[in-house]
Amino acid sequence: MTWVVTERCGGRRYTDCVDVCPVDCFYTIDQPYQMVVIDPGTCIDCSLCETTCPVNAIYRDKEVPEPYQVWIERNEKLFKSGTLIKKKQDPLPTAVTLEEIQTREKEFGLVVHEPPPDR
Ligand code: SF4
Ligand code: F3S
Repeated sequence: MTWVVTERCGGRRYTDCVDVCPVDCFYTIDQPYQMVVIDPGTCIDCSLCETTCPVNAIYRDKEVPEPYQVWIERNEKLFKSGTLIKKKQDPLPTAVTLEEIQTREKEFGLVVHEPPPDR
């Protein structure tokens, strides 16, 4: 079991998730988007990162919404060429709110559920 950062992080990179991870498994990448991804081999399934993300970009691997399931494999591949990040940084200048992301998803016809609220 691991956790997956989805495209919702792309161009936002708030990095609140990085600060709570007890095992430092977040890596920044620049392609295909400026964002972070998780090293699934290091993640200990603690779930701490999920609720810290202001744009709900992180999902348990078995709960990733269908439009973002490609990110399960992408996290696994892309962290290898990424840069380990251990501390929170300023969000990217292009960061937007969850509401703005949800509006764009609807415009593109994507059906994206939010992570379960009870964790
Ligand atoms: Fe780190 Fe825990 Fe999130 Fe895995 S679930 S990436 S160990 S904070
Ligand atoms: Fe990205 Fe959310 Fe972390 S926007 S950097 S997954 S806090």
